[in-house]
Amino acid sequence: MKIIASDAGRAKSWRAALVDRQNELWQRVRNHGEQRRHHLSERATGVLADAVQWLAELPEHSIHAVVTDPPYGIVEFEEKNHRKLRAGRGGVWRIPPSFDGAKRSPLPRFTVLSQEEVSALYNFFGALAYGLNRALVPGGHVFLASNPLLSTMTFHAFQRAGFEKRGEIIRLVQTLRGGDRPKGAEREFSEVSMMARSCWEPWGLFRKPFEGTAADNLRKWGTGGLRRISGEEPFKDVITCSPTRGVEREIAPHPSLKPQRFLRQIVRAALPLGIGIVYDPFAGSTSTLAAADHLGYHAIGTERDVTYFAMGCKAFPKLTALTLG
Ligand SMILES: C[S@@+](CC[C@H](N)C(=O)[O-])C[C@H]1O[C@@H](n2cnc3c(N)ncnc32)[C@H](O)[C@@H]1O
Repeated sequence: MKIIASDAGRAKSWRAALVDRQNELWQRVRNHGEQRRHHLSERATGVLADAVQWLAELPEHSIHAVVTDPPYGIVEFEEKNHRKLRAGRGGVWRIPPSFDGAKRSPLPRFTVLSQEEVSALYNFFGALAYGLNRALVPGGHVFLASNPLLSTMTFHAFQRAGFEKRGEIIRLVQTLRGGDRPKGAEREFSEVSMMARSCWEPWGLFRKPFEGTAADNLRKWGTGGLRRISGEEPFKDVITCSPTRGVEREIAPHPSLKPQRFLRQIVRAALPLGIGIVYDPFAGSTSTLAAADHLGYHAIGTERDVTYFAMGCKAFPKLTALTLG
């Protein structure tokens, strides 16, 4: 009995120390840098900044997890392609055919990337991965959205920067990517699809190597593992989640909006003890920050586009409060 009581006392003291450290770190991280920012709530802050630049000056060991949906091909969020998207003229953004009268959201067309753009993509993800590796505490996890056309490259850049690959989360979702007949010859080749219709989305799962044993790292940094769904149920690597619902799109009309139903599950898993700071370098509509706030986690995001930044500030309270049916 005595041993159990002293174990409980020790657990209380390291947990209390982790919470104290998180609270102190949070004040520094949310105020880091000169860029414009908006304190979205007590636990969430959005910064109008380029992610790689903001990260470059962030002190080592400042964040505990990263959950992000990056610009997969960088080019789709470049000003010239964005202008075309906003003007409804496509470019690297493909406007899906409207075959049933329903208006669909534009999708980036990654098959049009040149070799040079692919190399630039690799370098960009390399710079991001080095910055994140420094900023994360030992054992911190990264959940990185990708797609089956580009994931090999983006994931490799993370491994090269020193992250351990810990698997992939497969989001089962049917998008409109793929499945089309040859353009201009649809009737002639009615039995042909140019590529498989996509029915899944890969999220790379990476971890910064931890210190000592898993238990040592959990006590010292609060990281190294994934939060279980319950005592009986571990976090799993396949999650079925349909495309983002209309109500969320109305709150945050970002072209790459991720659904709260999915984000809340992966953000929850990212902090094994529920203590720490989650960072989203490409915050877009603040959907990751809203998921974190809903769960009672601390979260910071950077977004460099002023229009999306403003959209995110407005959308945050509504996304946070959203009830999932
Ligand atoms: C794929 S979207 C993420 C959308 C987000 N998942 C959501 O649910 O709203 C990527 C976002 O990253 C932003 N972005 C692109 N390059 C960036 C950079 N270097 N630093 C910060 N933000 C960047 C884009 O403006 C875009 O809003």
